[in-house]
Amino acid sequence: MKPKEPLVPLERTVAVDLGRRSYGVRVGPGLLGAMGDAVAALPGVTGAAIVTDSNVGPLYGQRVSDALAAAGVQAALIEFPAGEASKNLSTVAGVLDALLAITPAVDRATVVVALGGGVVGDLAGFVAAIALRGMRFYQCPTSLLADVDASVGGKTGVDHQAGKNLIGAFHQPAGVMIDVETLKTLPRRELIGGLAECVKHAVIRDASLLDYIEDRAEDILACLGDVMTELIARNVAIKAQVVADDEREAGQRAHLNYGHTVGHAIEAQAGYGELSHGQAVALGMVAANRLAVGRGLLDEQSAQRIERLLNKLELPTRRPGLDADKVWWIMQHDKKALAGRIRMVLPTKLGAAGIFDDTDEQALRDAIEYLGSP
Ligand SMILES: NC(=O)c1ccc[n+]([C@@H]2O[C@H](COP(=O)([O-])OP(=O)(O)OC[C@H]3O[C@@H](n4cnc5c(N)ncnc54)[C@H](O)[C@@H]3O)[C@@H](O)[C@H]2O)c1
Ligand SMILES: [Zn+2]
Repeated sequence: MKPKEPLVPLERTVAVDLGRRSYGVRVGPGLLGAMGDAVAALPGVTGAAIVTDSNVGPLYGQRVSDALAAAGVQAALIEFPAGEASKNLSTVAGVLDALLAITPAVDRATVVVALGGGVVGDLAGFVAAIALRGMRFYQCPTSLLADVDASVGGKTGVDHQAGKNLIGAFHQPAGVMIDVETLKTLPRRELIGGLAECVKHAVIRDASLLDYIEDRAEDILACLGDVMTELIARNVAIKAQVVADDEREAGQRAHLNYGHTVGHAIEAQAGYGELSHGQAVALGMVAANRLAVGRGLLDEQSAQRIERLLNKLELPTRRPGLDADKVWWIMQHDKKALAGRIRMVLPTKLGAAGIFDDTDEQALRDAIEYLGSP
């Protein structure tokens, strides 16, 4: 029998401790309705602009604008076509045009509300960073990936033809409001993609989170409210801690790249969109684990345990027919390869990670080949 939801649903608040730029992340069910009070509580608010995409706008735009209106904050709604293909400077220009056409005119007391997945959060956050030399913005993430990863940390920006996320700014939100009920409409593929980042956080920082995900895997896949609140709050706490320790990515923040060095190359090799980001990251984590086992950092049982968990979450751990040479070539030409050296984040045990610049070429090729094995 499925556990029943308790009468008082769980709510959590996680602090992101960044001195003057500190903010809180609230996680729980029905929180879109709390957006009005949250935005109205920001000092001197004169109005709001909700930036969203063509999938999320029709689902939740009205609810957020009603909540804002009920708190006395008039909001305009700005929508752009959903998808990574929109995450570029021409969409930024369109959103800026719409923002600056609002009457009465926006000023620096207007708050930008980013309502949607990571694409909306990154793009709306970037618009807020550059419009009027900086406006406050509130993150209202609606995809699991945005909940646990993109909405926290203040990295905003868009893609360029030359590569992903090449144009951007650090701009911290004034707050983050995560309504776990929005996950009920999220396509399953997107939910599962977000789970790869949750496993990533657990492996690099918190072995007990790994236990939790294992124990509650079925409830997570069924998007059970309290379990999602707990899962997201624990992940936000990890991301917040990493960011607070290293806001501008000098060291520790790079641990978040676990699974991403090989993952990005597999994603690019497959052609963006064919494999989801989360699926590619799952494969990247498996490859990183092979290297970690080979160096005696991680024991084989732990590596197998992570693979079993990924499979339980319907994430891939093998990709038969993978073109290992091509993945290797892409990795060597990655902008993050330092003077020809490939930087790898490897687990040093369950719940901890390190950065390694001395990866043996053959070991890395073997780890990629392993993914192609049956
Ligand atoms: N800023 C950061 O630190 C950071 C970190 C990780 C990823 N990112 C960025 O995040 C982006 C990926 O985010 P994403 O996976 O959320 O992609 P996304 O924003 O494209 O959302 C995925 C899809 O789900 C839809 N969607 C979102 N919420 C929904 C809901 N509740 N119901 C129905 N449909 C919904 C969207 O419209 C879209 O079609 C990438 O551009 C990546 O670069 C940023
Ligand atoms: Zn990722």
